[in-house]
Amino acid sequence: MSNQKIPVEKYSTPEIASKSVAKEVAALIQKNNSDGKNTVLGLATGSTPLHLYKELIRIHKEDGLSFKNTITFNLDDYYPISQDDPESYYYFMQQHFIKHIDILPENFHIPDSNMPRESIEIECAKYEQTIKDSGGIDIQILGIGRTGHIGFNEPGSSRDSRTRLVELDKITRDDACSNFNSLENTPKYSLTMGVATIMEAKKIILMAWGKSKSEIIAKVVKGSITNEASASFLQSHPNAKFVLDKDSVSRL
Ligand code: GLP
Repeated sequence: MSNQKIPVEKYSTPEIASKSVAKEVAALIQKNNSDGKNTVLGLATGSTPLHLYKELIRIHKEDGLSFKNTITFNLDDYYPISQDDPESYYYFMQQHFIKHIDILPENFHIPDSNMPRESIEIECAKYEQTIKDSGGIDIQILGIGRTGHIGFNEPGSSRDSRTRLVELDKITRDDACSNFNSLENTPKYSLTMGVATIMEAKKIILMAWGKSKSEIIAKVVKGSITNEASASFLQSHPNAKFVLDKDSVSRL
């Protein structure tokens, strides 16, 4: 394990790794709740954060952690897609996290995948402003796509990119295709926070599990910063870390 440009925490399983992340998130919420302050979380979808959400729900139900003073901003969603579509990230978040905790409905934010195309620019700028108005993201949770993307910041996304409409990479659409039955039905576009939006978070935790992520993890942890893999920009964040299992860490 040499030449690492981002701090890495290694765990034997995704469950144990996620419990450690959940503990960290819960501790911040708990502290802010006692200090009468809000906590602002940046959230991700995909299979990677599922254990984290499960554990946070458990802490809420069994240990009484309240999310009443928590504000969340999701990274991205497909565009266009209906919120009732089980493949939409809106639906995913409701099913796997939001409906199980006591967060106020108005404090859950996700880019609106039904907005008309002509409103995208203005609505994306509003999304950025709402994050700023909430005080900025305290902890940003990330997964990583096989193209090295964070959110949907596909290869070519610049360091100063902001919340916007992006065209999905062929590899990303191939990976998502099984959920949409065919490549033809797989969305071609998404709305995503930009690299600059993500980099403004006070703390960033990227999680990755399994052998299929090991190659891209090695590239972004040891390689140079490049807009070919937006996760590599995290090397220049003052408070970012990767939380990995024994398989995703295997090529480091
Ligand atoms: C999508 C999402 C990313 C996510 C990635 C990996 O591309 N936009 O935010 O990190 O998928 O998904 P998974 O966690 O299922 O491997």
